[in-house]
Amino acid sequence: MTGYSRVRSLPPFSTNNVYYPLERAIVTSSENARVIGLGIVGLGGATLSMLPKFAKNPGYKIMAAADVDANVLAAFSKDFPEAKTYNSVQDLCTNDAVELVYIATPNRFHSEHTIAAFQAGKHVLIEKPMTIEIPGSIAMIEAADKAGVLLGVNVKHSFEPRVQKVREMVRTEEFGKLRLINSWRYVDWLYRPRTPEELTPEWGGGIVWRQAPHQLDIVRTIGGGMVRSLRSMAGVWDPDRRVPGAHATFMEFEDGAVATAMISGYDHYDSRLLVFGPDAIDPSNHGGARRELRESLVGGAEAAAAASERYGGERAGSAVRETPGLGGGWIMGGPTVISFDHADVSFSRNGLEVFSDTERYEIDLKGPKDGRDGRLDTYYDSIVNGAPLPADGRWGMATLEVLLAVQQSGDERRELMLSHQTGSVD
Ligand SMILES: NC(=O)c1ccc[n+]([C@@H]2O[C@H](COP(=O)([O-])OP(=O)(O)OC[C@H]3O[C@@H](n4cnc5c(N)ncnc54)[C@H](O)[C@@H]3O)[C@@H](O)[C@H]2O)c1
Repeated sequence: MTGYSRVRSLPPFSTNNVYYPLERAIVTSSENARVIGLGIVGLGGATLSMLPKFAKNPGYKIMAAADVDANVLAAFSKDFPEAKTYNSVQDLCTNDAVELVYIATPNRFHSEHTIAAFQAGKHVLIEKPMTIEIPGSIAMIEAADKAGVLLGVNVKHSFEPRVQKVREMVRTEEFGKLRLINSWRYVDWLYRPRTPEELTPEWGGGIVWRQAPHQLDIVRTIGGGMVRSLRSMAGVWDPDRRVPGAHATFMEFEDGAVATAMISGYDHYDSRLLVFGPDAIDPSNHGGARRELRESLVGGAEAAAAASERYGGERAGSAVRETPGLGGGWIMGGPTVISFDHADVSFSRNGLEVFSDTERYEIDLKGPKDGRDGRLDTYYDSIVNGAPLPADGRWGMATLEVLLAVQQSGDERRELMLSHQTGSVD
C-alpha cells in the first residue's frame, strides 16, 4: 500500500482550504472494466456508512443483501430494487452474481458468517473486529486459504490519507526513525443508544471491542504492525453499564518505537476540542448523550433507538459521527501525534501538521477519498489484479491479539508479550 505524492507546505498554522488532489499510487477501480458483484450481510449502522462508498465505486455492484430483520430488508429493497434480498448469509451465498460478501453482523457472529461465505467460494470483507477470540480467527484464515479466496478486515480508518501518509514517512524515514505514537479520544460512546450486543462484554460489547479496534489498528498501521509487548487497563466505571467504557494502553513495537493510546467513552470531556479548538464545539451539547439516555431513553426505549439507527430507521445515519462543518470523521475525534527523530507530526484539520527541526507546515490531504474508499480500492486491486491484500485475516488476527491483551493485561495488572503479530503490506 503506498501513500500520496503531492505535498505542499503552507505558512505556519494556515487554515487555507485550497484543495490539492491526491495521486494514489495504487490502481483505482475506476480505471478497470471488471465489476465485482457485492452481497451485504447485516444492514445496520456499519453498512450505512459503507453502502454509499460501494454504490459510488464503479468497481462494485450491489447485487444482494441479507438480514434477519424484515424491516431493514424492506427499506433496502426500496432503494435497491434490482438487488435480491435474503434472510441468511447461507441463502445470500447461493446467488452466483455475488463474488464478495461484506459482513457487518454483530461481533459474535463474524467467524460463523465468514466461514459460511468461504464455503460457498466467496471473498469476504469482514467488519472490525475480525472476531472476538483467536480460535475463531484462525478458523477464518484457514477456511479462506482452503477455499482459495480472500479475507479482508474493514479497518477503514487505517486506510485514511493521514494514516497512510504518516506510514509513508515511517517507511521512508523522511524525519528519521519513528519513536512515539500518541492517540487520545474522549467521546460519548458509552451513553449513545446501544444495542444489547454492545453492552454485553462476552458478545464483543464495550469500548475495547467497538472503538479500540479502529484506534489500535491505526497505531499498528503507522508502527508497521509488529507489537512486541503491551501493558493496558480496560475500565468498567459505571455499574449500570457493565462493559469497558475506557482503556489506556502502552505498546512497544519490535523496533523499540512505542505508542500510548487511550479512549474514554464516558461523555464528560470532548477531545475534539484539542483538534478543532473551542470555537468549533458547541458547549450546549455537553453531556448530550447522557442527558438523552436519562431523560428520553428509559425502559426499552434505548434498544429501540439503537435499532432505529439501522437501514431505513428514524435515526439511520446518526451512528456515523462527523463534527458538523468540520469533517474528518472518526479519525478526528481526538488528537494523534507521531514523533520521529526530527519531527512531531499531528493529524490536523486539513491533513497533517509537521513540526520539524527547522520548519512548521501543513500537508494538505483533503480530497474526494477517505479511508473507506481506500479499503475498497485496495480490495478491488487484490481481487482483480492480484495485488497483496493489506489488512487481511492475519493482520486482523494480530489486531485481535492486541485487543484481547488489553483486557487481559488490565485484569492481571502486568505487561504481556504478543505472539501473533504480522508486518504491514506496504
Ligand atoms: N455502527 C457503526 O458505525 C460501526 C462502524 C464500524 C464497524 N462496525 C462493526 O459492524 C458490525 C455491526 O455493527 P452495527 O453497529 O452495524 O450493528 P447493528 O446492530 O446496527 O446491525 C447489525 C445488523 O445485523 C443484522 N443481523 C443480526 N444477526 C444476523 C444474522 N444472523 N444474519 C443476518 N443479519 C443479522 C441485524 O438485524 C442488524 O440489522 C460490528 O462488528 C461492529 O463492530 C459498526
